[in-house]
Amino acid sequence: MKSLSYVIRENNRHDRNVSDLSADLVSHRNTKEAHIFHKGIEGYEPTPLAVLDEQAERLGLGKLWVKDESKRFGLNAFKGLGGSYAISKCLSAIKDPGIGLNEGEMKATFVTATDGNHGRGVAWAASSLGHDAVVYLPKGSSCERLANIKALGADAKITDMNYDDTVRYASDMANENGWILVQDTSWPGYEEIPGYIMQGYTTLAAEISEQLAEKVSDNTEAEIPTHLFLQAGVGSFAGAIAGYFKTLLGEECPKIIVIEPDKADCLYRTACADDGELHTVTGDMDSIMAGLCCGEPCSLGWDILKNNAECFISCSDEYAANGMRLLGKPIGNDKKVISGESGAVTAGVIEAVMLDKELSELKEKLCLNRYSKVLLISTEGDTDRENYNRIMSLDHDAF
Ligand SMILES: Cc1ncc(COP(=O)(O)O)c(C=O)c1O
Repeated sequence: MKSLSYVIRENNRHDRNVSDLSADLVSHRNTKEAHIFHKGIEGYEPTPLAVLDEQAERLGLGKLWVKDESKRFGLNAFKGLGGSYAISKCLSAIKDPGIGLNEGEMKATFVTATDGNHGRGVAWAASSLGHDAVVYLPKGSSCERLANIKALGADAKITDMNYDDTVRYASDMANENGWILVQDTSWPGYEEIPGYIMQGYTTLAAEISEQLAEKVSDNTEAEIPTHLFLQAGVGSFAGAIAGYFKTLLGEECPKIIVIEPDKADCLYRTACADDGELHTVTGDMDSIMAGLCCGEPCSLGWDILKNNAECFISCSDEYAANGMRLLGKPIGNDKKVISGESGAVTAGVIEAVMLDKELSELKEKLCLNRYSKVLLISTEGDTDRENYNRIMSLDHDAF
């Protein structure tokens, strides 16, 4: 059934900050280093920032931008930003026994668990740098996503476990075999590599701030979004992007709204409980938003989001499907953005918040109106083409 729940974190307005640990993670120095690294990769190009004027008009917004990560490194998703940067940092720390690669060992094996996109990024980065990758996907993963990872030379397979158990399995396999775990989520005691992954993600935010500055034709200042909607699985991505903009813009940072599938809403539950503990979702998480089907929050991501996100939303699959159609079937002169299930959910939610009467209270609480400038990040393209084409052919609310 179509449903959307939310929690507003009102107390955050005056005490928004990133803690010391996270502040360093997304410091200007660290995020700049990641951006410089990516610029050095052959074929690097900033992904497009589409300006959807006609859609903004239809929804009653001042502005609507969509960053299109389907164009990232030919990988159809943003995730390669994190895996590539983390692997390069691991390799440059080659003599550090804490990282796991011993001096003289020429070929490393990087291992990870993934819903698809991160594993593809790790497989791509490992093979580009002449190393091996082993990739585990949770049960129910799409064959197309598995094939895309194998095509990059990785030893990949679908397990019979859910995402979070697959992460534990990958970690055990790393320990048993002396492989390096490159996981896109952190937990106490495993934070260095996920921290690099998050720094890698911030390259897309750095591109956005450059693109917003470029679009200003005269001497006026760059436009600053008022609202930033971020989709979340474990929350590494949302934490990294929120932290980047908070560090860059301080008090002018847009309102951050975090969105998860209701089948895997671990950050929403953590925000609702507000008891200092991380709350998890267990069992099968069978949302169409495969990339967001993670039941255990990333400790580093939450550390940033808990102080900086204004609202956490948990929603059903209809919103993702509607968002795919909104972006994939543009109106007027708007650019088409091919956006997959996990990429498009933010578009489906902003559409509903602006147009559905039942969500008018949320619209008011978030101060969304015709002066609002909303930034979305379409984090993936049609990574499961069969499902993408099927959903595109359906009517509003169908998935
Ligand atoms: C397309 C896409 N968007 C968003 C995310 C969410 O990232 P995170 O798990 O860091 O919250 C993922 C994660 O795999 C993803 O694949």
